[in-house]
Formats: sequence, structure tokens, C-alpha cells
Amino acid sequence: MDSSYFSQLAKAIHETGIAHPVLVIDKERLDKNSSCLANVKSQNKAVRLVAKSLPSVPVLRHLMQRLETTRLMCFHLPFLMHLTEEIPEADILIGKPMPQRAVESFYQWQSQKDTTFEPEQQLQWLVDSEQRLFDYEALARRLGLKLRINLEVDIGLHRGGFANLEAFERSLRLLKQSQHLCFSGIMGYEAHITKIPWYLGGPQRAEQQAKSSYAAFVSVIETVFGDPQQYCLNAGGSTTYPLYTSQDLCNEIACASALVKPSDFDVYTLQSHLPAAFIATPVLKTVARPELPMARGLSRLLRITGLLHHQAVFIYGGNWLARPCFPEGMRKVRYFGASSNQEMYSLKEGTPLKSDHWVFFRPTQSEAVMLQFGKIAIYENGRIVDWWQSFEYPDTLYPLASHSD
Ligand SMILES: Cc1ncc(COP(=O)(O)O)c(C=O)c1O
Repeated sequence: MDSSYFSQLAKAIHETGIAHPVLVIDKERLDKNSSCLANVKSQNKAVRLVAKSLPSVPVLRHLMQRLETTRLMCFHLPFLMHLTEEIPEADILIGKPMPQRAVESFYQWQSQKDTTFEPEQQLQWLVDSEQRLFDYEALARRLGLKLRINLEVDIGLHRGGFANLEAFERSLRLLKQSQHLCFSGIMGYEAHITKIPWYLGGPQRAEQQAKSSYAAFVSVIETVFGDPQQYCLNAGGSTTYPLYTSQDLCNEIACASALVKPSDFDVYTLQSHLPAAFIATPVLKTVARPELPMARGLSRLLRITGLLHHQAVFIYGGNWLARPCFPEGMRKVRYFGASSNQEMYSLKEGTPLKSDHWVFFRPTQSEAVMLQFGKIAIYENGRIVDWWQSFEYPDTLYPLASHSD
């Protein structure tokens, strides 16, 4: 990666007076990536931002505005609560089937809140099986609720959901008759596509299979409910969104990670996206001829064989789900073990790095890493221009057992 990019970023960080590990989002790159994603709208698809992958209200708000969408996908009860408070206009699809108890907790919590969020219009719960449908129906009846139900369909990933068209049709008919549940759409996820090796058929074949199986579910919806396009037909994810055209039957695409492109998303479908999130951290100590404890001879041997470099640093923090990306050639010293406090990295010979200089990492994924830093530094036009808060947990989520004696 371009060294002048990181020199400029280090300068911007230095100028703010920051002296601890920070997560930086490059807003210009984020915006460029979001313009790539916006192309799905010209293919007649709406965008649904996957909140777990960019867990920050200001980040989501910024993108919702740019992409002209209020649709979010949410995977975690505390964050559902947080979102309904912070973005009460959001239209939320739950991305995985939640335990009944979590559904109940949400409504209990919501009944004590003064929010304009209306679950009957704005929330879809995901159901993956007939059994869960019966359970949700019983729960909704007991609580006197009306729940909107989106059915998870298995289109090849095999992470659960309806795989069988008969069970799917029975569930649609149950939903049609139910007083407490109503059908809102389907969700089919296919993150496996770009990863299928040629000897298992390759990505193209996986894509064809996923799309034809999605179409089969859509035709059952047509049989039971009529025009399927009036429902939420969700598909896609970061690695697959560019594969969808107006010919495909889904009417919305879920996506988020691609907008900051962590290293797990270095795939051929995202070549037009740029990495936009980096961990920056200061060097604490530089070490010439790094040595392992009690192993002077072995360390020498490792250095001679190139398994240990001649120069190393201890950095402030470490052990993140991230890979070093600058300076070039920086590598984790595995023999020394991982440390979240001060981790050792070896450097290529001649790397001009001193204490207090900055080193950079690319997160392998955004969802966990963004939550580790509290506030995220926003980098724009060569400067840190703002700090955006990552998701917070609502206070009311920590009940204690009540004593009954
Ligand atoms: C159901 C579902 N849809 C879409 C996504 C895509 O999210 P992202 O674009 O952040 O990879 C995910 C990711 O886990 C998912 O589980």
C-alpha cells in the first residue's frame, strides 16, 4: 500500500495530539465505496445496511443519508434496543432467528420506552423453521402482539433456514391465516459464493444455484400471496452484492463490511472498493536483534535463517483481529506470543521506525474491531475531523434474579 498515504495519516493523527491506539475511518474512501454500492439502486434494488458490520450510529446515519435508505439489518438484542432509540425511523430486519426470550425482552423493554419506533410497521423478525414459527405464534398470542415475520431461506450457504419448499409453503399458509403473525418477506444469504473452489464447481455455479433456489422460493410466495415484489425480498452481502442485476428477483441487498473493506473482503467482486478502516498505534520500543527469553543461541539461529528479523518493535496494544499493513514487511513475532498490551512485531531491515512513530493495521473484519475502540477517528482531507461513537449497550439490559422467599 502507498507509503505516502500512511505518512499523511500519521501526520494527521500526530497533529491531533492522540497518543494511543485508535481506529480511523477514511471518510473519502468510505464515500467512494458507498458510491459503488449505490449502483445496486440502478438495478432496482434497495440497500439495507448491515448494522453489526458498522456498529456506530453516526457511521450508519452518514451512510443512510448518502444511500437514501432507512433499512437496517440487526443481529443483536442490545443493539436492536440501541438502534430503535437512536434511529427511531429505521426499518429493521433481524438477520438471525432470535430466542423467544429475546423477542419477549425486546417488547418488555420497549413498553417502558418513549420512542416513536413502531415494531408493527418497522420491525421484521427472522424465522428459520416451522417449529420457530409455532413458538413465535404462541408468544405473540400470549403477549397480544402482532409480529412481522421474514422467513430465512437456505439458498446454498447451509447456515439454516427453510431448505424445503413444502415446509416453506406450509409456513406461508400458516402466516396467511395467523391473527398474530404476518408475512413480511424472505432473506437468503449466500456468502459462500466467492469462496467456492473450482473443484466444487466454482463461484459461477454457486451463484447460479443460489439464484435459482431463491427463485423457487419466490415462486411459492407468488402461489400463496400473489405479487412477491410487494414483500421484502432480501439477499446479498458484501462479497456478492455486485453479482445482482435487475434480472434477479430480490428487491433489496444487504451490505456493510465492503464499505470499509477489511482484509477478509479482499475478493474479486470488490476490486473497485478501497480499504477505509485502519488501526493506528504508536511504537513503544524498538529492538535491534530481537531475542527470545532464555534462548540467545536459538534467537541467533532464527535471525540467520530469516525466521526472526534483525529489527523489531513493541507496539502500544495488539492482538486485534487485524493485519499489519504499514510499514511494509512488518510481521507478528509468533515465537513471542500475542499480547493485547504491548505486542512484538518484526520489521524489514532498514525500516526507519522509532518510538512514538505510528504503525498501521487493517482489520480483518469490522464488526468486532469497531466495538473495541469506543470512538472512531474520522479522517477527511488530510485531517482528523471528528470522532464517531461506536454502539453502546442500553442500561436496562442487566436484570438480576428477583428473590421470592
Ligand atoms: C444475513 C446476512 N446478510 C448480509 C450480511 C452481510 O454483511 P456484510 O456486508 O457486512 O458482510 C450478513 C453478514 O453476516 C448476514 O449474516
